[in-house]
Amino acid sequence: MDHTGFLDLLERRRSCRRFTPEKLDRETIGRLLLAACGAPVGSNRNEDIHITVVEDRAVLDELAAAMKRRREDREALRLITEKIPDRSAAAEDVFDPFYGAPAVFIVSHRVQDLQPGIEYANVMSVAMMMHLEATELGLGSVFMWGSLEAMRMYPEYDRTSELRLPEGFQPLLGLAVGHPAIPLESKEILPDKFGVNALPE
Ligand SMILES: Cc1cc2nc3c(=O)[nH]c(=O)nc-3n(C[C@H](O)[C@H](O)[C@H](O)COP(=O)(O)O)c2cc1C
Repeated sequence: MDHTGFLDLLERRRSCRRFTPEKLDRETIGRLLLAACGAPVGSNRNEDIHITVVEDRAVLDELAAAMKRRREDREALRLITEKIPDRSAAAEDVFDPFYGAPAVFIVSHRVQDLQPGIEYANVMSVAMMMHLEATELGLGSVFMWGSLEAMRMYPEYDRTSELRLPEGFQPLLGLAVGHPAIPLESKEILPDKFGVNALPE
């Protein structure tokens, strides 16, 4: 189906797992951060969100340590990668959970228990805006959950301190962004992708 506008953007939105080494310029980083600021946050508690732009390879290597440990758990790895078409990139021997992206935007949230779980919705709200803006700019991007989750699973590999976050913040979701090494193909949106019911029936 031919779409225009927002649905066309969604058809072009793909997860990119191979990047060229080319860095993002300052203007592009500014555009992505501006898009992030377009995101709604629960109860308008914008002060609970913090974004870290990581272009330092050494820091990314540190953040990858827990994910490398997790890959030793083959069952977890199978579950994570079995439905990913670009599995070779996700499971290759020299493993980089950031797929060589020149920049990773880490979205952190203030640890809180006022509204249990809202932190996950909030960080996705922010990261999704950057993912869509990256698509709009012709860049590749992919959410980064695994490496941050692995840091929570294996505290001995937790390198959160590398991010120099304000006190009381926890990194929950990242977005790796860069120039795609392979052109990203549009994908038709399948209308029956999710189960749906309607009331009244
Ligand atoms: C909440 C969330 C977390 C994700 N975390 C990762 C991740 O850590 N690593 C990764 O390679 N892809 C990650 N992805 C990307 C999904 O695997 C991808 O969106 C899915 O396979 C569909 O492919 P598509 O984005 O190309 O349509 C994540 C996606 C979401 C929505």
